[in-house]
Amino acid sequence: MFGEQKVSYSGVQPSGNLTIGNYLGAIRNFAEYSAQYKTFYCVADEHAITVRQVPAELRRRTYETVALYMACGLDPAQNTLYVQSMVHEHAELAWILNCFTMFGELSRMTQFKDKSARHTDNINAGLFTYPALMAADILLYQTDVVPVGIDQKQHVELCRDIAERINQIWPGLFTVPEPMIPQNGMKIMSLADPTRKMSKSDENPNAVVYILDDRDTMIRKFRRAVTDSGSEVRYAADKPGVANLMTIYSCFTGKSMEEIEREFAGVGYGEFKLAVGEAAADALAPVQRRYTELMADKAGLEAQMKKGAEEASWYARRTLAKVKKKMGFVQLS
Ligand code: TRP
Repeated sequence: MFGEQKVSYSGVQPSGNLTIGNYLGAIRNFAEYSAQYKTFYCVADEHAITVRQVPAELRRRTYETVALYMACGLDPAQNTLYVQSMVHEHAELAWILNCFTMFGELSRMTQFKDKSARHTDNINAGLFTYPALMAADILLYQTDVVPVGIDQKQHVELCRDIAERINQIWPGLFTVPEPMIPQNGMKIMSLADPTRKMSKSDENPNAVVYILDDRDTMIRKFRRAVTDSGSEVRYAADKPGVANLMTIYSCFTGKSMEEIEREFAGVGYGEFKLAVGEAAADALAPVQRRYTELMADKAGLEAQMKKGAEEASWYARRTLAKVKKKMGFVQLS
């Protein structure tokens, strides 16, 4: 809570093209929250450097991510949309929270274990303490809810533990946040291996559908999607490929699983997959048009980033000042 307002906070890394998994699992639901909450969305460029980045690409993707958020329907007049590194309080609070986060807790983080297995040549301290930076993002804004995909739930839970630990010493210093996992489309799986999450960094380009893929590419990827043995379009645990495509179709069309089963009864997988591809392409066409317009206006995007950072700083400054005082740091008047 910030004053009388309930706060919702979420972030996305500018570390690759956003996928339809990001869109359906997170971004698409963002706009709805602004009616209920004071909403913050951060482009987490400081998180991104936990794995090696090419600076010019990180910069470009930061612009792209801001534009894409806006194209997906995020209205900057209703939401605070900003770039993490433009608000220095994040890095400062992260250091303080590091001192209240246990080695054992960080060692248990699944994402750390995965990433350190994938980047064995660069298991840096930032990769390890990444959840403390994420906790700083969240706690700076006295956040009540954190809409995230299921893969980030563990980090939000660690953030709660950190907040509670600190609140035990200084009651009420932080609002303790709750993760908010969307019910439908919370986890979109890879088209090549439906037992794995669709990941923007997947090496197999056919496994991932990006929001900005053109229509033909999208349809081609869905046509190649791995399905299961048999030929029925049925939602079942032993048919993870078909179930994933049904989830995607349901998210884009609003149809229920029963309706989808009826629609494709007696029809082969080929026709079903084509329909999923077309539904995705139709739904994303207006997003892509808007994105192109926004990217053509760099100055407009920069003005937007500046406004967002100023808004975010207003909140972040207040929380950090309170925290520094509690820590025993000398306050000059
Ligand atoms: N770590 C998140 C991810 O990789 C992105 C993120 C950064 C975030 N800060 C956040 C998400 C704060 C929610 C809240 O997807």
